[in-house]
Amino acid sequence: MPDRNAQSPLVLAVSNQKGGEGKTTTAVNLAASLAAAERRVLLMDLDPQCNASSSVGFPRGAVDAGTYDLLVGQASLDAVIRETQLDNLHVVPATADLAGAEVELVQLEDRATLLRAALDQASARYDFVIFDCPPSLGLLTLNALVAADSVLIPMQAKYFSLEGLSALRETIARVKEALNPDLHIQGILFCLFDPRTNLAQQVVSEVEEHFKGLVFKTRIPQNIRLSESPSHGLPAILYDIDSKGAQAYLALARELLESLKQESTL
Ligand SMILES: Nc1ncnc2c1ncn2[C@@H]1O[C@H](COP(=O)(O)OP(=O)(O)OP(=O)(O)O)[C@@H](O)[C@H]1O
Ligand SMILES: [Mg+2]
Repeated sequence: MPDRNAQSPLVLAVSNQKGGEGKTTTAVNLAASLAAAERRVLLMDLDPQCNASSSVGFPRGAVDAGTYDLLVGQASLDAVIRETQLDNLHVVPATADLAGAEVELVQLEDRATLLRAALDQASARYDFVIFDCPPSLGLLTLNALVAADSVLIPMQAKYFSLEGLSALRETIARVKEALNPDLHIQGILFCLFDPRTNLAQQVVSEVEEHFKGLVFKTRIPQNIRLSESPSHGLPAILYDIDSKGAQAYLALARELLESLKQESTL
């Protein structure tokens, strides 16, 4: 656990360079579940696909400034924060410009620390800042890993999902060495989980063996409500709180809060 000022938020990057593993669904629904537990949460969309933004009511084109403007210094954090339908959940939406950021930012000397610098303005106002990362290990993800305290890795219990995990672990190690010494893995979360297959059980055992103590006990099942709720611009707890998906993310929030409580008393 990094030595954070008690006033500053826990900054979590939800990341996995493999596409479609459950990053956005996790970033949005964990953020909403923490907000429901009365934590003040800022969700930041770092993916030019804008899926996290749409999932909380800001589809592409709905706002004219967001993460891109913050990164390039065209807007302050206050200017790009939006309220959502949940009192404690704010969002910095992504806009289409973000797609060009990877290329445009390359020439800047401080290209890896732009997000960290921008976030300084958020201290004390939030308990959690959650980044939804794109499915790549480019500059946007690098900015997230440099600004984060820890990384939450959603993954499916599938063969190809295992391959990506070691690449991500190497990236985290490199960022830790060069730019963010306190960065650590908060946990690995199995998403779209179907416990009935042998393969799923094998993948879980393998990950548990290689990442001891780092696999969340909560598993997110495949649940149709989780895939429907984004098109309504609502997190699952507002769309159908009784669904298995919404309940699983509430359980994840409880597990995370419990583990943070234990870390802070160690
Ligand atoms: N537990 C779940 N049950 C059912 N559908 C899910 C679940 N989790 C995610 N999905 C659906 O699977 C697809 C991929 O999920 P999601 O967008 O969260 O992944 P991602 O890792 O953010 O993808 P990308 O890499 O493209 O950003 C989406 O259509 C989403 O609605
Ligand atoms: Mg996504």
